[in-house]
Amino acid sequence: MAGKERMLVTGGHALEGQVRVSGGKNTAVAVIPATLLSDEPCTVENLPDIDDVHALADILTELGAKVEYEPGKSMRVDPRPAEGNRVSYRNAQRLRASYYLLGALLGRCGKAYVPTPGGCEIGSRPVDQHLKGFQSIGAEAGEIGGLLTAESDCLTGGDVFFDMVTVGATVNVMLAAVKAKGNTVIYNAAKEPHIVDLANFLNSMGARIKGAGTDIIRIRGVQRLHGTTYAVIPDQIETGTLMIAAAATGGDIIVNGCIPTHMDALSAKLLEMGVKVTDYDDAIRVHVVGPRRAINVKTQVYPGFPTDLQQPMSALLTTARGTSIVTETIFESRFRHLDEIRRMGARVRVVERTAIIEGVQELYGAPMTATDLRAGAALIIAGLMARGVTEIYEPEFIDRGYEHIEDKLRSLGAVISREEFC
Ligand code: UD1
Repeated sequence: MAGKERMLVTGGHALEGQVRVSGGKNTAVAVIPATLLSDEPCTVENLPDIDDVHALADILTELGAKVEYEPGKSMRVDPRPAEGNRVSYRNAQRLRASYYLLGALLGRCGKAYVPTPGGCEIGSRPVDQHLKGFQSIGAEAGEIGGLLTAESDCLTGGDVFFDMVTVGATVNVMLAAVKAKGNTVIYNAAKEPHIVDLANFLNSMGARIKGAGTDIIRIRGVQRLHGTTYAVIPDQIETGTLMIAAAATGGDIIVNGCIPTHMDALSAKLLEMGVKVTDYDDAIRVHVVGPRRAINVKTQVYPGFPTDLQQPMSALLTTARGTSIVTETIFESRFRHLDEIRRMGARVRVVERTAIIEGVQELYGAPMTATDLRAGAALIIAGLMARGVTEIYEPEFIDRGYEHIEDKLRSLGAVISREEFC
C-alpha cells in the first residue's frame, strides 16, 4: 500500500522562465460527460492529467462507454455501448463534477441517478438550482437518501430562471436540454469561459446553442448529436495560480498557451499591487519590479475576480505592503487556508466573509494541511515565499486540479518535491 505523501517547499527562490498551461479542468469535467450525448464516438483533446479527469474516465467506463484515454492528451469516448444510468457512490465521491452526469444521462436516456457528490469542502454547496432547472425543462428531479435523481419520458425544454448565478446548474441544464423536444432559455446563466467552451463543444456535435457567455442562453433542442474532435481551452485558474506564484516570489515568468483576456480581473489586481503584467496573443508575462502593495479583492462571478483564485491571491497578500481586505462572496468557507498560513507568521483576521490581511515582511516555513484544491495551491504560494521549509500534508487535493504542479514550478526554479512518510 502506498504511504501517505507530503509536499516539501523550500521558499525564497524567485520563479523565472517559461511554462505552458494545461487544458482547463472546469471545461474538461463538463465536456467529458457531454460526450455521452453523442450517437457517435467523440475525441476530447488538451485534457489535463489530473485526478478529476481520471475519475470521469472511470465513471464513463462504469456506465458502459468505451473509453480510450491517453493521460495528459486525449480521451476518445464511444458512448454507443453505454447502457448504465447510475453512478456508483465510490466514483461520485471522487469529484464534485460527478453531478454533471445527471444532466448528461438525463439528456441521453431520460433517467439519471447520481449519489450526492464529493469534492472540495468550501461551503454548503446545495444543488437546488440544478434540480429546479431540470424540473423547468420537463423532468422530475429530487434528492433522496443521498441520491440525486432526474427522470423524464419526454424533456419538453422550457424557461429556466436561476435564483443566483451558478456555473454547475447552468452546465447541467445545458447538458439536459440540448436534445429536448422543445426549446430552452436559461436566464441569469453563468458566463464563465468554460460555459462558452461547453457550448462550442456541443455545437460542434450539432447542438444549437446561442448566447453562451451572456446571461441568457438559448437552446434549440435537436434530435441527435454526432461525433466530434475538440480541444478544450487552457486552464484559467492554473494560469492565474502561476501568475500569482511569480508575483509572490519576486519573479519574472511567461505563461504560454493561455488566453490573456480570461485573466483580466487578476491582471488588473496584480497591476494595482505594482506587479508588471504584459499580455501577448496567447501568453502572459508577470514581472515583479518593486515592492508589492496591499489591495482589496472581492470575488465575483465572471468576468469579476474568480473565487478559485481568491485563496492563492490572499496567500500572496500576506506579504504585501499594507493592509488588504479580501471579501469572498461566492462560497462561505473559503478562508480555511488562512488559518494554516497564520501558523507561518501571517497576520490575518477573518470576520464572516471578509479577511483582513496585514502584510508581514516574511513568512516562516511550517507544517500545514491542504483542506481543498485551491487551498492547497495557496499553501504552495505561501511556501514559495517563506523562509525555510514548508510541509504540505494531503497534497492529493492539489492533484485533483493541477497537472504536475511540482514539475512546472521546478522548471521555473522552485525548490519543491514530494515524499512518502509513515
Ligand atoms: C464552479 C466551479 C468552481 C468555482 C465555482 C464558482 C466547476 C467544476 N467548478 O463550481 O471551480 O469555484 O463554479 O465560480 O466548474 N448554489 C446554490 N444552489 C445551487 C447551485 C449553486 O445555492 O443549486 C450556490 C453555491 O452554494 C455558491 C454559488 O451558488 O454559493 C455558486 O456556485 P456554482 O457556480 O454552482 O459553483 P460550482 O458549479 O459548484
